[in-house]
Amino acid sequence: MAKSIAIDGPAGAGKSTIAKKVAKELGFIYVDTGAMYRAMALFLIRNGISADESEKISSTCQSAEISIGRIGGEQVVYLGDENVNGLIRTEEVGNMASASSVNGDVRKKLVALQQKMAKTTDVVMDGRDIGTVVLPDANLKIYLTASSAVRAKRRYDELTAKGETCDLEAIEKDIIERDYRDMHRENSPLMQADDAVLVDSSDMSIDEVAERILELYRER
Ligand code: DC
Repeated sequence: MAKSIAIDGPAGAGKSTIAKKVAKELGFIYVDTGAMYRAMALFLIRNGISADESEKISSTCQSAEISIGRIGGEQVVYLGDENVNGLIRTEEVGNMASASSVNGDVRKKLVALQQKMAKTTDVVMDGRDIGTVVLPDANLKIYLTASSAVRAKRRYDELTAKGETCDLEAIEKDIIERDYRDMHRENSPLMQADDAVLVDSSDMSIDEVAERILELYRER
């Protein structure tokens, strides 16, 4: 049976950086499920659908052909045969992903795809509902979090390093609002699975968090 590690948690807790590191260490494949929701969002935008048209989202999502591949060890998301990695990290796509990921039909389609991947491949999968819905039998479940102040500071540092001007307070407010939305939505809200280990990365380095997760995995 393929092995799996599920990593869930709020935006900005460092899930993808940590998940990549852990996957590399164990020789597992890293699966970024957020990128799949983003690719679906891009598909919906291209079809002229807006965030509040839930019925159209439900019907149109059925014809999205989303798949995952790898180039040089990096995950690539395809829409049909188009590599859309370079198009899904925009504000517009992020907002649409946030809105369309509450749709039950979108989730059903992407969860099925994620489960299929984990059946045959050893994976470290990150998202919001991996331990609770996608991989309820994962070998290890981690709920990775950090205080909103720390997550805001990390995001602020990231943006200023890119030369963008931004406001720390506004970023933290945004993070708090997004957490609330993710945790209170009807479909697959973000929550810690009963059997997940809580890791708070507020006062930990990336290496410390990765090491802790590897330790937990090896103990099992
Ligand atoms: O992690 P991210 O920002 O790339 O995720 C994009 C959006 O998709 C975000 O609004 C949360 C949502 N998402 C989800 O609902 N379930 C997942 N397993 C992963 C992401």
